[in-house]
Parts: sequence; structure tokens; C-alpha cells
Amino acid sequence: AFHEYPKDLHLASDGAFGKFDRQQLQRGFQVYKEVCSACHGLKHVAFRSLEQLGYTEPEVKAIAAGFQVPGLDPNTGEQTTRPGVPTDYFPAPFANDIAARAANNNAIPPDLSLITKARHDGGAYVYSLLTGYQDPPAALLQEFPEAAPGTGLYYNPYFPNLNLAMAPPLMSDGQVTYGDGTAATVEQMSKDVSAFLVWAGEPTLEKRKQTGWPVLGFLLFATVLAYLAYRSIWAHKK
Ligand code: HEM
Repeated sequence: AFHEYPKDLHLASDGAFGKFDRQQLQRGFQVYKEVCSACHGLKHVAFRSLEQLGYTEPEVKAIAAGFQVPGLDPNTGEQTTRPGVPTDYFPAPFANDIAARAANNNAIPPDLSLITKARHDGGAYVYSLLTGYQDPPAALLQEFPEAAPGTGLYYNPYFPNLNLAMAPPLMSDGQVTYGDGTAATVEQMSKDVSAFLVWAGEPTLEKRKQTGWPVLGFLLFATVLAYLAYRSIWAHKK
């Protein structure tokens, strides 16, 4: 009864005619890069895919070079890291699960590539989670005192078990400075990064939605043809 379903989130990519708002995706990427990427990877997204958001090739190269990715030392063959190139994928921020847990109160920050697909109402869920931190309601504490957030846990009614190990990542307005002049309120940053993660989870969304219309047109046309064929085949039987 204390868990809440996601709030409404309206994105340009919603609906049968949905298209991504590339300005918004770029802002959302900026939030991911400057805030979320400290703890969350994006292993299914390649840097080169950022060209779809409207970044130029040199911009993508610069973004990739700003991330350290795992690699082998060309001289010794040992495991090391090197600056990313466009064909690399976003690296995981921790060397392994043990390191991830050690830094996060024993919880592992999940890879965010498919989070908007893995959770119901993905985009709206991420948005609600980011803007949903609050004090636990008195009624909850009275009924279930053990539901009070323990050390390093934060109450959030949009998270199924009500307390999660992620401190509110977006806390204050202006945490990032947007290049396009949009005011970076917590609300705005939360929406933008959710839109970005919807894209990350399905970069081909526009193609899928646009493909549907010619398909329906063809089916309609085929139906008319079938009807006419039926009429013509039976025309001489009275
Ligand atoms: C979990 C998003 C920043 C640490 C999550 C979840 C999402 C998310 C969607 C998954 C909840 C679920 O499993 O349903 C984001 C976004 C961020 C961000 C969009 C940036 C705006 C951070 C940062 C840290 C962090 C900076 C570390 C300081 C964690 C941890 C969990 C988590 C430890 C696991 C929580 C648990 O299972 O209790 N985050 N996160 N996140 N995040 Fe983040």
C-alpha cells in the first residue's frame, strides 16, 4: 500500500508517431556522463551510437577519449586501461562486483543500458525514482517500524522494496550546466536522463514506429484486392 506506481512522464518518443527529441537526448546524455556514469555502466551502447543524438564524429571521438576502457598493454599483454575510441562501448565504472559493492553499501549499481526495458513503465519509472526520494510516511513507520531505512538506505516509494542503496543522485538545481541554455532543475535533469535511457534501451524505436504505417497501408490495400478478387470470382454465380 505504500509502494507507488510511476508518475506520468510525457516524452516526444511516446505514441504511434513518436520521435526522439534530440536536444533532450543530448541533455540527458550530459546528465548520464556527469552524474550517473560514476556508478552505472551502459555496456550495450557504443560511443559511435551517440552520432544518432546529433553529435559530430570529432565530438564522439572526444567523448570516447574521455572514458577509460579495459584493454591490453601492447608491450606486456597485461590487462590495463586505455582511452576509449568510437567503436568501444561504455565501460563499467567498477572493476568487478566486489568493488561495486564495496563502494555502494553492499549494493551493485545495475548497468543502465536496458533499465527502461527491464522495469515496467521504464522511462516514467526512472523519472519517478529520481524525483521520488522523501521521508518515510509516519503511517508506514507506525505499522511497519522495520521498514525505516537502515544506514546507507534511502526511502523511495517508487522502488518496489521502498528503501534503496542509491543516495539521491540529482539533489540540486544546476548540478549540470546545459549547453543549450535549458535551466537544469532537478525535474528537468530527471526527465532528460530518463529520455536518454529510453533511447539507450531502444535506439531503433523511431524505425519500429515508422515501419508500422506502410505495413498497415499495405494490409489495407491487400484487403481491398482480396475483396475485389472475391467479387470477380463469384460475379457469374447468381
Ligand atoms: C540503482 C538510476 C546515479 C548508485 C539505480 C536504478 C536506477 C538508477 C534506475 C535501479 C533501480 C532498480 O533496480 O529498479 C540512476 C541514474 C543516475 C544514478 C539515472 C544519475 C542521474 C547513481 C550514482 C550512484 C548510484 C551516482 C553511486 C554513487 C546506485 C546503486 C543502485 C542504483 C548502488 C542499487 C540500489 C539498490 O539496489 O538498492 N540507479 N542512478 N546511482 N544506483 Fe543509481
